[in-house]
Amino acid sequence: MTASAQSLSFELAPGGALRGELRVPGDKSISHRAVMLAALAEGTTEIDGFLEGADSLATLAAFRAMGVAAEGPSAGRLQVHGVGLHGLNDPGRALDLGNSGTSMRLLSGLLAGQRFATTLIGDASLSRRPMGRVIEPLRQMGAHIEATPEGRAPLGLLPVERLQGIDYPLPVASAQVKSSLLLAGLYAQGETCVSEPAPTRDHTERMLGAFGYSVRRAGNRVCLSGGGRLVAAPLSIPADVSSAAFFLVGASIAPGSDLTLTQVGMNPTRLGVVNILRQMGADIAIERPRELGGEPVADLRVRAAPLHGIAIPQEQVPLAIDEFPALFIAAACADGETLLSGASELRVKESDRIQVMADGLAALGVEAEPRPDGMRIRGLGAAGLLGGGEVEAHGDHRIAMAFAISALRAAAPIRVEDCANVETSFPDFVGLAAAVGLPITELRDVERQA
Ligand code: S3P
Repeated sequence: MTASAQSLSFELAPGGALRGELRVPGDKSISHRAVMLAALAEGTTEIDGFLEGADSLATLAAFRAMGVAAEGPSAGRLQVHGVGLHGLNDPGRALDLGNSGTSMRLLSGLLAGQRFATTLIGDASLSRRPMGRVIEPLRQMGAHIEATPEGRAPLGLLPVERLQGIDYPLPVASAQVKSSLLLAGLYAQGETCVSEPAPTRDHTERMLGAFGYSVRRAGNRVCLSGGGRLVAAPLSIPADVSSAAFFLVGASIAPGSDLTLTQVGMNPTRLGVVNILRQMGADIAIERPRELGGEPVADLRVRAAPLHGIAIPQEQVPLAIDEFPALFIAAACADGETLLSGASELRVKESDRIQVMADGLAALGVEAEPRPDGMRIRGLGAAGLLGGGEVEAHGDHRIAMAFAISALRAAAPIRVEDCANVETSFPDFVGLAAAVGLPITELRDVERQA
């Protein structure tokens, strides 16, 4: 059999500045949850600001396959006709979740308590990622889950009569595991409680509340009881702070930049990138703070500023877990050394983000020492420029975008290979980047694979 896959490279001229105003697409984490909870609710949910990226579209396709009717998305608007907690149907085929770890981990919990079997599959990257972290506690709740001997996809979820509530201390700070167990808890007898070793994004808890489901938090422990109901409620999704992060870093490192990012999600459990950049000396003003759909938002005005290296505070690590590719570029342009530790989770993201970023930085002439749980980066300083050259994104959307913005502080052109997955989280990254001063040439190549 032959399949064709399109490879995409980005080519960037060195230098430039970011100026103007920009709204990046809707939050990926919230978009996944919006589809899931709207599907399980009673009534029709109107969503706006939905991320039309491959990851959240994979979640939507999974629910359509299970009989949920939805109109859209179009220009971020999506209407989902909920079927109630017990209204999903057997999809009759495997659900392909592409590159999306959030879809697979959250759906494992949501589908573990159904009366039909499902199989969850994903692409090569997703099939390498650890699923034992959800399988093990879900089995403790009574779920029947099949996986590879290494605890990876494809996952087979077999029907069960009823799950049992659990009181589970998370061994790793993971919003995906927490959310998976809470979603399973909707179908469980009694109370399901999850305690976290450090705060992680709380969008699931907030949105359950918005759909009228009681969630109780005391300190680091969050609990809900099974057997309730979700009631449709309109949802507005903020711009994704994880996508904004590339522009926060780009405008900080490119002299002459003055950029405003509008309606950015400011949930405190996501703000590590703003806190860390400010500690490094970034000039980020938080303007017009307000609420949107149960989440805080603001406009962020960022102007170029000299950055200095720091030891990244431990408590900020889970709050910035997706932003380290961008933050490593900031560190490379800063004065002095930046040290990250306690971030071994980066090794099991869409790629091994410690190794892949260290390799790319080294190719651009930056001294970057990868460590098992982090990285030490010696910054080039205020007057320093990255070298040009070729770097590999390894199919990881956030690596591709991080190296794209690095060209703003380079001495020669940069070419980033394997960028097609940018569309998983940030469709039209190229168009929006060009609109504020970062033109990207896309080189497409159709490869035939045996
Ligand atoms: C996510 C949680 C994080 C994050 C991922 C999205 C979520 O993963 O890296 O991109 O939406 O819950 P972990 O829970 O594995 O840290």
